[in-house]
Amino acid sequence: MRSSVVSMLALGAAIVSAFPTASRASSQVKRSTSCTFSSAAKASESQKSCTTIMLDNIEVPAGETLDLSDLEDGTKVIFNGETTFGYKEWKGPLIRIAGSNIIVSGTSNHTINGGGARWWDGKGTNGGKTKPKFFYAHSLDDSTITGLNVKNTPVQAFSVQSDNVVLNRITVDNSAGDHNGGHNTDAFDVGESSGVTIRDAVVKNQDDCLAINSGSNIIFTGGTCSGGHGLSIGSVGNRDDNTVKNVTISDSTVTNSANGIRIKTIAGATGSVSGVTFSDITLSGITDYGIVFEQDYENGSPTGDPTTGVPITDLTVEKITGSVETDATKVYILCGAGSCSDWTWSGVSITGGDSSSKCENVPSGASC
Ligand SMILES: *[C@@H]1O[C@H](CO)[C@@H](O)[C@H](O)[C@H]1NC(C)=O
Ligand SMILES: *[C@@H]1O[C@H](CO)[C@@H](O)[C@H](O)[C@H]1NC(C)=O
Repeated sequence: MRSSVVSMLALGAAIVSAFPTASRASSQVKRSTSCTFSSAAKASESQKSCTTIMLDNIEVPAGETLDLSDLEDGTKVIFNGETTFGYKEWKGPLIRIAGSNIIVSGTSNHTINGGGARWWDGKGTNGGKTKPKFFYAHSLDDSTITGLNVKNTPVQAFSVQSDNVVLNRITVDNSAGDHNGGHNTDAFDVGESSGVTIRDAVVKNQDDCLAINSGSNIIFTGGTCSGGHGLSIGSVGNRDDNTVKNVTISDSTVTNSANGIRIKTIAGATGSVSGVTFSDITLSGITDYGIVFEQDYENGSPTGDPTTGVPITDLTVEKITGSVETDATKVYILCGAGSCSDWTWSGVSITGGDSSSKCENVPSGASC
């Protein structure tokens, strides 16, 4: 592997240096086959003139984005070595990649290191230092992000707003933030997207492993989630798009997390959650709720008073197994009157913890 990386680097460097002015002079930009960059600014400036962009040990300056949001169709982007970022209080993102038919990957020896400890103050996006978002996959359509090794994001990791995008084998390791102020380090926030597949992710963080705020035709499968808040839909409501439709979350484990699986909708808001399936999810070390579906969120917290404006319909919950901690609750369902319906519930077997006595309007089929 090492020799192929080295030869690719050598090839890229040779091509870039052989044709620098020729490609700029022609009216139609001639694209080199392979370019290697060790500067974020150069990669961004030259992004349209390369079919393959190798990002080699890039140190992104403080307050700047590694910005590849104007790529030609079909470009390949490859991370090599360690990608790092200067420190500044700002909103980010640290990385932005957009285009169509793009493949983003990393060599076997790459790490994208957010250096999050410099921002971590236990407050996440709720205060303290202004922290940069990590990776915007916005308008990255018909594309694939595969095999990235990410660690120590300042706050949320991947923001996905794209159609027909696959995120394969991505590792987000923020475990260094567990006792060091990591907060709101969601791994994958999905919204306003149609056709998203997140497969075989490995996540260690302090907030949602997955949070889907809106979108349709979304699959999350083969995930390994630990340390955070579990697999979530929501909060749904009070955004530009408040429809979640046709989502399958399956074949995953959630360990040492606040919740296993969750849907939360905003009280008083409108929208809908339909056609969601949670299946074959194994839980362990869950401290709050194994399964929690509630329609009462307001300002990021549950109120205990559910409303009916964001109905949860056509929900399938099957083969949710494992255990929760002694002082956790196995299942909590808090629906408004008539706003949860058409639920299918099978193979839910959770040990440990208590049953809730506070469930309301549990639809037939489900059990609390
Ligand atoms: C892997 O990447 C690191 C960080 O850039 C570098 O120090 C190391 O030499 C690389 N190892 C190999 C085998 O290329
Ligand atoms: C639901 O989403 C899956 C995954 O994208 C897709 O294959 C399927 O066709 C969708 N079903 C409907 C009814 O749209």
